[in-house]
Amino acid sequence: MKPPFPLFPPSASTVAVEMDLLYGFIVAVCAFFTVLVAALVVYFTIKYRRRHPDDVGADIHGSLSLELTWTFIPFVLSLVMFAWGASLFFRLATPPANAMELFVVGKQWMWKVQHPEGVREINEMHVPTGRPVRITLGSEDVLHDYSIPAFRVKMDAVPGKLTTLWFEATTPGRYHIFCAEYCGTKHSGMIGEVIVMHPQDYEVWLAGGRSTGTAAQNGERLFSDLACITCHKTDSTGRGPSLLGVFGSQVELASGQKVTADENYLRESIMNSQAKIVKGYQGIMPAFQGMVSEENLMQLIAYIKTLKPAEPASAPGK
Ligand code: CUA
Repeated sequence: MKPPFPLFPPSASTVAVEMDLLYGFIVAVCAFFTVLVAALVVYFTIKYRRRHPDDVGADIHGSLSLELTWTFIPFVLSLVMFAWGASLFFRLATPPANAMELFVVGKQWMWKVQHPEGVREINEMHVPTGRPVRITLGSEDVLHDYSIPAFRVKMDAVPGKLTTLWFEATTPGRYHIFCAEYCGTKHSGMIGEVIVMHPQDYEVWLAGGRSTGTAAQNGERLFSDLACITCHKTDSTGRGPSLLGVFGSQVELASGQKVTADENYLRESIMNSQAKIVKGYQGIMPAFQGMVSEENLMQLIAYIKTLKPAEPASAPGK
């Protein structure tokens, strides 16, 4: 959609229009009250000016109805802003379950994008229209921020953890990607383009890209290259816990605490393996911080996600 005026970014995602409506509403409310207050200041200054040196102002002790009015109206208006903003925020914070997944790593000073099918890009990101896209975002060095104004989404890329953002593109075209967090000398050059394509064109593009195996396959290779496989066996005989079905499950720690094995849990367990020890195991795993890049880490996570829970041994019929 074309922007209402030249300085405004184009709208190319499902949330963009509603985001603009909310933004417009807040600007309109602020503008209305700014003009109203300024006009009344001028009007009252003129109307109630001192006309004679002996003039004495009326002695007014307040008005309950007036005070209630100017309390109640702003209260309602700010609650509307809060409820509307919160509902939009929750929608942006919860990616749909059927979203396709991309991995993005920020690094001084570029964006590296990895498709689950294995195709990789730098400072470009191809996505199809009409399909929610969930991005798992990491940083190789310092704080960056992945910002796509045409989609009205942005998210910090934080060193030491993974963050997510999602969008659904609506209009084919090329749109800016910015780094929106000052990250060093070439911060302003840390830019790129999202290329939104019709789904058929996207499939063609994807098939034509050079791929060195899917993200999960690369992860599987790393899993054996880094010798993870020698301890994390698929049964319970390994020195480390089996990883079958671990993603999304509840893991009980040595402390008795239970945590959900999400992306950040897996990340921490790889990079800083002593942080959380699984109950019944010893903290003998080396930390892979500095040995595994964020991109490789995302491949490992993609692989671990594919490890389905072991088939329950068929119980004797009862
Ligand atoms: Cu990366 Cu600014």
